[in-house]
Amino acid sequence: MKALILLTASVLAYSADPSSGKILFESKCGICHATDPSEHKIGPELRGALRSHRSATHDVILEQIQNGGGGMPAFGELLTKDQKEDLVAYVLTLTTHVYPGDPSSGKTLFESKCGICHATDSSERRIGPGLKGLKDGALPSRRNGTNEDRNTTHDVVMHQIENGGGGMPVFRDLLTKEQKDDIVAYVLTL
Ligand code: HEC
Ligand code: HEC
Repeated sequence: MKALILLTASVLAYSADPSSGKILFESKCGICHATDPSEHKIGPELRGALRSHRSATHDVILEQIQNGGGGMPAFGELLTKDQKEDLVAYVLTLTTHVYPGDPSSGKTLFESKCGICHATDSSERRIGPGLKGLKDGALPSRRNGTNEDRNTTHDVVMHQIENGGGGMPVFRDLLTKEQKDDIVAYVLTL
């Protein structure tokens, strides 16, 4: 009977712990993946969604950790199975994070505040770069090679709206937080 219990316990799935995963993430992954909105790093921010348009499922994330690719090292041999499960559990808390913001209000606001300088149906330049194709993951300044780490994430787009620069006005005090969230939600769909 005892043997049976032991056997049952050993085949039960390991129950992954996202808080251990967070600590591992900070030491193994944090150098490339930002968790602080003010930082831009070489790997994509993982909050909200995967930028590669793969679904943020357990298996997809585990596969990325195992095999890396696209500039990310393979961790298959570097971590134990349980450590990988903890990491997946933590990454899932990031990718399922939901930002506030209503893209349809954002569209209306975009048309009145941003549309004069930015096309949304092409990547052609008006005064600012055309924004079509942003949802594929790269901002125009990354696509044209001037800024390697400009991934299309909530925080990078918000930072651009807040601070402008390079010919773009500063919208920090011109829009409410809610309006900015709506615009970001819309821009991420382009
Ligand atoms: C040396 C930098 C680096 C390290 C360290 C790193 N990554 Fe990455 N990671 C990247 C890059 C770059 C990409 C984008 C790959 C691509 O575009 O194909 C990426 C992609 C990902 C993706 C997929 C994102 C998507 O949109 O599909 C996940 C999930 C991920 N990393 C998780 C992790 C985890 C968990 C760790 C730690 C175990 C880690 N990364 C460590 C650089 C890194
Ligand atoms: C007066 C013209 C103008 C207006 C209005 C304007 N922008 Fe821009 N925007 C620019 C210019 C110019 C750039 C390029 C900046 C650079 O290259 O440094 C830019 C860049 C951007 C980028 C790309 C950043 C990158 O790294 O590629 C985004 C996203 C963006 N703007 C969003 C917006 C949003 C959202 C609004 C409305 C709230 C807005 N812009 C309003 C001129 C404008």
